[in-house]
Amino acid sequence: MSNKLSLFPPNTTITTEGQLTLNGHAAVELARQFGTPLYVYDVATIHQQIRAYRQGLARYAGSSLLTYASKAFLCTALVRLMTDAGVGLDVASAGEIFIAERGGADPTAMHLHGNNKSALDLREALRAGVGRIVVDNADELASLTKMAAEHGQPVKIWLRITPDVAVETVHEYTVTGTADSKFGFPIEAADSVARELLSQNSPIELTGLHVHLGSHFHDAGPVARALERLLELAAGWRHEFDWPFSELCAGGGWGVRYHPDDPPMPVEPFVAGVTAAVERGCRLRNLSLPQLILEPGRSLVGQAGVALYTVGGRKVMPGGRTYVSIDGGLADNPRPALYRANYTAVLANRAGEPETETVAIAGPYCETGDILIQAVDLPAAQPGDILAIPVAGAYQLAMSSNYNAALKPAVVFGEENGVKLIQRRETFEDLIRRDV
Ligand code: LLP
Repeated sequence: MSNKLSLFPPNTTITTEGQLTLNGHAAVELARQFGTPLYVYDVATIHQQIRAYRQGLARYAGSSLLTYASKAFLCTALVRLMTDAGVGLDVASAGEIFIAERGGADPTAMHLHGNNKSALDLREALRAGVGRIVVDNADELASLTKMAAEHGQPVKIWLRITPDVAVETVHEYTVTGTADSKFGFPIEAADSVARELLSQNSPIELTGLHVHLGSHFHDAGPVARALERLLELAAGWRHEFDWPFSELCAGGGWGVRYHPDDPPMPVEPFVAGVTAAVERGCRLRNLSLPQLILEPGRSLVGQAGVALYTVGGRKVMPGGRTYVSIDGGLADNPRPALYRANYTAVLANRAGEPETETVAIAGPYCETGDILIQAVDLPAAQPGDILAIPVAGAYQLAMSSNYNAALKPAVVFGEENGVKLIQRRETFEDLIRRDV
């Protein structure tokens, strides 16, 4: 149990009565007040992760900007939190721009991603004054050039480079920097596009380069190798066109610990690996240090989130497998089905009891794959118990669905002085709101 506890936000405790408390708030009490499934974000943990990134970036000899990859989890309250903390936003669609604007984000500290940005995405980015467009391919560059001319203002861009460097992640779906990836320009293509751009008069201003190798890795070595390739490109353009290489985004992708068997993944080695690679690579090539931008998602919000569910029942199958069924699953967290993501859980109202059996945690949806956890040790769970799954903050709600007309869960922010509802649970009316 104690090694499971270390996965929760650091201010999580177990009372002498065996109650799991999140920053002083009893999980069962939150479940009673707001219903389940419930997503509880510990605000202090998000700030702790922001601080860890900032401390690492402060050691970089140039300037830096921390941005949040908002696809990990986005709502207006989180935009406000990030914006108040001075964290910029990586957005990946006109929809994310909309939420970011509604949350009061500073558009100039936003950059827009996407491997097939629609005309709407680009138009909205220009209208909102999004700081940088991360151009993915030559067709996009052509449309953006036309739009920028009509817009009548220069548009600042980065080129997204696909350096053909692999990272080790838990699933092939979360690798993005290899040669056959759908994202970004291969090195040679980037080189020719940039040379053409830099040798002509264009409303497009190339201010920097971007790379993102994948998601949920825990070795900074490949990022350092990828950055070398980007710096080599930059040095060539600097030499030939006197290009003022002023910005370099090294992406995100640092992993988090989901399971007691996972190694610790503090962000420091990632940030230190990136800053050292940029400083060394620039020194070797006589480049002045660009502003360094990072865009982590999971590692800023993953550990902050805890998902609470109510146990409906249990059954023992003839093969010997015991299923404990809960009131959420595939619809609020498709990650186990998509990536075979490995989670753990505790019974929040009986967290002090010995874990006497190994069970599978099943959701209520009509899919055999709706199993949130294949095997976890728990006390013998009973209907009405509250199950808490840690590290629920990233890519769960963001990828949630209404399968089987499931209602998307409520979300609360927990702080020392109270708990605040930031997203209400969906209602049945929400399910037909779009029907005409
Ligand atoms: N930058 C870019 C360009 C990205 O595409 C992503 C994530 C990030 C940054 C942030 O990566 P992070 O720091 O969160 O690892 N749904 C998958 C993860 C997909 C990641 C998509 N891109 C999952 O649940 O594991």
